[in-house]
Amino acid sequence: MTSSQGPRAHWSSRWAFFLVTVGSAVGLGNIWKFPYMTGSNGGSAFVLVYLACILIIGVPLLMAETLLGRRGQGNPVMTMRVLADEAGASRWWQVIGLIGIVGAFIILAFYSVVAGWVLEYTWRAGLGFAAQPKEAFADAFGALLASPGRLIFWHTVFMALTAAVVLGGVTSGIERANKIMMPALFGILVFLVAYGAIAADLPAAFRFLFHFDPSAINRGVLFSAMGHAFFTLSLGMGAIITYGSYLGREVSIPRTCLAIAAADTGVALLAGLSIFAIVFAQGLEPAAGPGLLLQTLPLAFSQMPGGHVVGLVFFVLVVFAAWTSAISLLEPGVTLLVERFDLGRKAAVLLLSTGIWLLGVAVALSFNEWSAFSLFGLGLFDLLDTLTTKIMMPLAGLLIALFTAWAMKRAHVEEEVGLRGGAFRLWFGVVRYVSPVAIVLIFLNVIGVIG
Ligand code: PHE
Ligand code: NA
Repeated sequence: MTSSQGPRAHWSSRWAFFLVTVGSAVGLGNIWKFPYMTGSNGGSAFVLVYLACILIIGVPLLMAETLLGRRGQGNPVMTMRVLADEAGASRWWQVIGLIGIVGAFIILAFYSVVAGWVLEYTWRAGLGFAAQPKEAFADAFGALLASPGRLIFWHTVFMALTAAVVLGGVTSGIERANKIMMPALFGILVFLVAYGAIAADLPAAFRFLFHFDPSAINRGVLFSAMGHAFFTLSLGMGAIITYGSYLGREVSIPRTCLAIAAADTGVALLAGLSIFAIVFAQGLEPAAGPGLLLQTLPLAFSQMPGGHVVGLVFFVLVVFAAWTSAISLLEPGVTLLVERFDLGRKAAVLLLSTGIWLLGVAVALSFNEWSAFSLFGLGLFDLLDTLTTKIMMPLAGLLIALFTAWAMKRAHVEEEVGLRGGAFRLWFGVVRYVSPVAIVLIFLNVIGVIG
């Protein structure tokens, strides 16, 4: 485990790869971010563009990134160097790995602060939410944001939980944690959706998410939805390359990636349906922003029969989802430090998580002490989110598509991805033309060059 000389660890089965990658994909992106972004981007227009982006950009690139990882067998930077050499291409392609490592660092910093909110609410759910008027729940969330001590405390707990699993290594840490948490997560989700269908306003939620209104699609919606498609599938941040590098040769990449994307999308839609069902049943505001989850659900839990248990179970689910994703944000940088700088896993985990923790502390302070700071009209939290989700992830995705479909030898790609004939040509054509053009068009559109 201590140096790059030893044989590389691998998942113990193909089921394990599926589980850990779903663990990476299904996270706060699905349960916290998707509902509030849908709420603040006008509902169904956002959902529609998001689904289109998953289909024409997300799934094809998820396959591409997995195949790069499995073929390269290393950390994201080393993988790109090995593959660039193999293809006789420039070593500049290593920048893909670098964007990923830096991006994952930034994402985990704010992700951990949000996961910290969830930890505090799990604690409160355990005590039971007292029945209060709805304004009191908004005030309670506001009070949490205003308290640097509580934010930093929970952020620290969450980073420690994440580091502890990564410290355990690939199979006995990451794989084992996912094998416990992911099945539990699905069990809880099924229970909650059944509950939501009985106890809340499901038809209203359905209309809000799926009533098709193309006139509501604008630049902002397009850009946000594309960014979110990357975020929710964990694309471009080294996570998929790294998890793919622990993948055995016998696994079918296309089938597994389709199943992963379906699971991720399914969880987002189910979470969205149940949350908006409660929002509408309670007469709340769908456009509440990042606090949506934490203002609406406690209110609902405080009123529904059995809400004490349901509330606790729900927040445990969100913690599991966030935890398994955070692990996948930490691991790529750790493998880089281990393989490139010959650090032991322990030192690498400590060093990297301390750095991320520090940036997270700045994020926590940006909600209170440092709230006056802003750049381009954005506070630190929105700034880091925008920089990673809307810029670094699509950029890395674009480069991954270009590298896979233009720089690599076609025969190598075909052999690695394991598709034949028409199916290969379809996927390859999408990665070669459709995904890159779509990403570039959305970029150009938002800077106002076209449209
Ligand atoms: N996909 C995760 C989520 O939806 C976030 C994530 C992004 C994880 C990038 C790893 C890499 O919450
Ligand atoms: Na996700």
